[in-house]
Amino acid sequence: MPAVPPQRAEGPYRVALVCLGNICRSPMAHVVLESRLADAGLADRVEVASSGTGGWHVGNPMDPRAAATLTAAGYDASRHRARQYDATWPEAYDLVLVMDEVNLADVGGRTERVGMFRDLDPADPGGSVPDPYYGGDDGFEEVLAMVERTSDGIVAALQAAIESHPSDRAGGGRA
Ligand code: 4NP
Repeated sequence: MPAVPPQRAEGPYRVALVCLGNICRSPMAHVVLESRLADAGLADRVEVASSGTGGWHVGNPMDPRAAATLTAAGYDASRHRARQYDATWPEAYDLVLVMDEVNLADVGGRTERVGMFRDLDPADPGGSVPDPYYGGDDGFEEVLAMVERTSDGIVAALQAAIESHPSDRAGGGRA
């Protein structure tokens, strides 16, 4: 798993997850990653956001199939509302992770802080999270499995980045 870049400022490490519509893949990743961060005791140390490069669904809840898949696995899918990505996100976030190559092209390609979500997949790194929107329920189960194991990889990488950033310990590094 590649290291994640250091955070730019004090306060939480800021992670953005990006797909096309922000109603299927990045919201599922958002909910799962926040849950895993809470399990790791990092809820206050990492802030997660998500968006879609397309604006069709802005303000809407998750796709019902994405929500049902998450709910069946014990997650809370109810709070999501879709947002649209814009060019300020790579400056506002420490790390921007996109779901597929189209998303990567839409955000302007790889940088030190922009990469693919599954770069951090500990089992099968380097691919895409395939878009389940036009497919069947199996696609959502597949996305959930990818997102769960990749979130574990992201939590481990964030843990390492946070530990090596001494100015951001509790108290902000001040005496
Ligand atoms: P997502 O899936 O990018 O995983 O949220 C999609 C949702 C909606 C559309 C495409 C993909 N759409 O074209 O409306």
